[in-house]
Amino acid sequence: MKLEIKSQTPTVEDIAQVVTDTKNFPFLTYIGPRTWQSFDRWYSAYVDNSFAGVLAVNRFGDWSKLGPLVVLSKFHGKGVATALIKKAVATEKGNVYLASANPAVWKIAQKIGMGEKYNWLNLPLSMNLIYLKLSLNVIRCREFIQFVKEMLRKQRLANVHHHRHFVTIRQ
Ligand SMILES: CC(C)(COP(=O)(O)OP(=O)(O)OC[C@H]1O[C@@H](n2cnc3c(N)ncnc32)[C@H](O)[C@@H]1OP(=O)(O)O)[C@@H](O)C(=O)NCCC(=O)NCCS
Repeated sequence: MKLEIKSQTPTVEDIAQVVTDTKNFPFLTYIGPRTWQSFDRWYSAYVDNSFAGVLAVNRFGDWSKLGPLVVLSKFHGKGVATALIKKAVATEKGNVYLASANPAVWKIAQKIGMGEKYNWLNLPLSMNLIYLKLSLNVIRCREFIQFVKEMLRKQRLANVHHHRHFVTIRQ
C-alpha cells in the first residue's frame, strides 16, 4: 500500500465523497462542500493514488487548529489519519491544537506525543477566535440549517459532547 500525504486542496469530487461518508460518522456533525472549501489549508491523503482522506487546518496568531479530519470509510484502520496528523504537526509552525470526541483520534494524538491540555473554558484567545471564524463560515456558506439538522440527528448516535483537547506547544 502506497500512502502519500500532500499539502493540497482536495478536489470538488474528493469533498463530495467526504460529505457522503460523513452521514454515517457519529463524531463529525456535518461539514458542507462550501464550508470544506473555506478553511485556511488542507492535507490530503492518497492510498495507491486514490484520494483517501483530508485534514483541514485553520490558523490564528501562533496557533494552528487541526481538523476537521475525515478518512473515507473504506480506508479506515490503515494508518491514514495517523499519517495526516503526523504530517500536519511536523509541517505547521507554532503551536498545534486538536480537539475531538472520537476515541480513535485521542489514541492517535497520544501515540504521536501530543499533550492533553485545556477544556472549553480555558482555551487560548487565538483558539476561541478560530472557533468563532469557523462558526461564522458555516453561516456565510449557507450550510447552517443542514448543520443543525445533522447535529440533532447525530446526538442520538454517540456522546459527541465529550471532547478532549491536545496540543503541541513550541514556545
Ligand atoms: C477517526 C478517523 C479519522 C481515524 O482514521 P483512521 O485512518 O482509521 O485512523 P488510523 O488507522 O490512523 O488509527 C486509528 C487508531 O485508532 C484506534 N481506534 C479505532 N477505534 C477506536 C476506539 N473506538 N477507541 C480507541 N481507539 C480506537 C485504532 O486501533 C488505531 O490505533 P492503532 O494504529 O494503534 O491500532 C476515521 O475513523 C474517521 O474519519 N472517522 C469519521 C470522522 C471523524 O470522526 N473524524 C474525527 C472528528 S474530530
